Amino acid sequence: MNRKIICALDTGELDEALRTVKRLAGHVGAFKIGHGLVLPNGLEVIKRLQDVGADRIFLDLKFHDIPNTVALGVREAARAGVWMMTLHVSGGPAMMTAAVEEARSFGEMDAPLLMGVSVLSSIDQHVLSDHLGVGRSIQEQMVSLSLLAIECGLDGVICPAPELKAVRNVVHHNGIIVTPGIRLPQDDVHDQVRVGTPQQALADGADYLVIGRPLMQCENPEATLAAFSERAGSAH
Ligand code: C5P
Repeated sequence: MNRKIICALDTGELDEALRTVKRLAGHVGAFKIGHGLVLPNGLEVIKRLQDVGADRIFLDLKFHDIPNTVALGVREAARAGVWMMTLHVSGGPAMMTAAVEEARSFGEMDAPLLMGVSVLSSIDQHVLSDHLGVGRSIQEQMVSLSLLAIECGLDGVICPAPELKAVRNVVHHNGIIVTPGIRLPQDDVHDQVRVGTPQQALADGADYLVIGRPLMQCENPEATLAAFSERAGSAH
């Protein structure tokens, strides 16, 4: 069992997701779901996954809208019993504050953890500068937006491996850091650009590691997980 590992259920097939939860519930800390599962199955999918052992659900819909709309989304996610969820920091302080107030209205035990997304791990410097028109380096942008997220009361941030040290430096102990784009050295990185190993990510300050395709697209997820856990464990 490695509570620091979050398995990303990136599939649209409910049966596949249920099968994966049954196999891995005893081995990971949480399961992350996104548009692929929620759009065809609705938020009821959360109850279905909980019924087969997914105690903690991370709803990764990366909200980004006006404050009132995002607060309504946070309310529905909290009602559905999610443990953790994401919103884009670039939605701005008013959007984040509205989300925080809505989450807190559910009380400490039932409020979902709100996690800020700043620069996706699939974006590189060329895209950030030349397509999105941001004049900062990826690291400067990550640090600045992560700090803003914590100042607005979010519970933590999403941070790819290469920027972890710098982001942990400004988040200090005031926030949770979740790191996607985790791969073993021999793994296919797929569409991820900024990746890291479990060992390095934990050493650099990650609290949780999100692992998707390496677990969902392999013959033996238990063995893959054991390999990741071994690397993750050796960071401490
Ligand atoms: O398959 P893989 O391990 O690359 O999956 C990573 C997961 O983390 C995906 O579900 C992706 O949506 C999510 N994610 C990410 N980068 C972020 C935030 C979330 O890759 N910045």
